[in-house]
Amino acid sequence: MAASKKIAVIGGDGIGPEVIEQAVRVADAAVSRHDRVSLEWQRLPWSSAFYKQTGKMMPDDGWDLLQQHDAILLGAIGSPEVPDHVTLHGLLLPLRRRFDLYLNLRPAYLFEGVQSPLRDKAPGSIDMLVYRENTEGEYAPIGGRLYVGAPSEIAVQTAVFTRRGCERVMRAAFEGARQRRRKVTSITKSNAQQFGMVLWDEVFKDVARNYPDVQTHSLLIDAAAMDFVRKPESFDVVVASNLFGDILTDLSAIITGSMGLAASGNINPERAFPSMFEPVHGSAPDIAGKGIANPLAAMLSAGMLLDHLGLGKSARAIRNAVAAVLKAGKPRTPDLGGNATTTAVTDAVLTFL
Ligand code: NAD
Ligand code: IPM
Ligand code: MN
Repeated sequence: MAASKKIAVIGGDGIGPEVIEQAVRVADAAVSRHDRVSLEWQRLPWSSAFYKQTGKMMPDDGWDLLQQHDAILLGAIGSPEVPDHVTLHGLLLPLRRRFDLYLNLRPAYLFEGVQSPLRDKAPGSIDMLVYRENTEGEYAPIGGRLYVGAPSEIAVQTAVFTRRGCERVMRAAFEGARQRRRKVTSITKSNAQQFGMVLWDEVFKDVARNYPDVQTHSLLIDAAAMDFVRKPESFDVVVASNLFGDILTDLSAIITGSMGLAASGNINPERAFPSMFEPVHGSAPDIAGKGIANPLAAMLSAGMLLDHLGLGKSARAIRNAVAAVLKAGKPRTPDLGGNATTTAVTDAVLTFL
């Protein structure tokens, strides 16, 4: 009897469930062909709709339930019907912290057959891997509001940078760079933020000393935004704080063709908790329910999940099948200039698998 892997599936809102179900189909097909295990999917209806019914984003035993799984596959959270700060602080953001998923790995690769909005970019010429810090920084929920609604109203939002928090994501980035082109760019804003970002820079220098074989650069976030457009091929591994990594990875997604192609993993490298995999994109309310969302980012995220669980053959098979569909030029969803549906694209991926 083959072993099984237990995966919690949170489709979430909008296009989340639409793309995640396609990723599940593709992962099942890949694993049944290439690895001797079975995947046990447990679907959890946690979402904004769940919130509207229950007043919570997840049941009280939700964390325990999630912890019984080997990994989590998530679609997207966020609905125009419930404020974002309520839904995201009820599930996605606490999940990243609670399970200490301190690495947010976000690869961006220009696949053959995909047109970058940047002129004359050859396939593979954009190939970067962003290590986004995922548990502190500008996302630390520390702060408050005072005199709400009054002319004297005050809001304080604190950014938290710890030596340990900076160091662990940076070490991981350097280790990752050794498997790639041995180049790490740190993203900073220490010219304006003289506490947190100066600590960030100092820790980067300290960590870099242990990796003399890796080339390092430090770039201010504003200049980095420019260089992602001007010369994206100059980036290999990028290490960034929570907010800067968030912003730069929508940019890295679009220069490689679409939000619908950007995958990510929220990783606890110590494996004390299940890691969580999700496309970089959100719930896309503008196209939700139309059956035209690009499912490839979700599939590539499922591929990262399988890789994390040691199912490397299946992971490679998914990536190769996605690459083959993109190279073929069709079918493709409207975000990539086509007119195919979500399921037609999945069917094509399954054919290549
Ligand atoms: P979004 O990523 O949902 O959409 C931005 C644009 O990209 C839209 O035009 C959308 O149609 C397009 N797009 C995104 N994914 C696509 C796909 N797979 N196929 C085709 N087109 C795609 O970002 P947004 O509109 O800023 O956010 C919508 C909601 O999602 C908000 O509530 C936001 O907070 C939430 N959000 C959640 C996550 C998450 O759960 N991880 C991530 C980002 C945004
Ligand atoms: C992402 C998203 C989230 C983030 C939002 C929905 C809170 O944009 O995963 O990129 O900022 O981390
Ligand atoms: Mn984002």
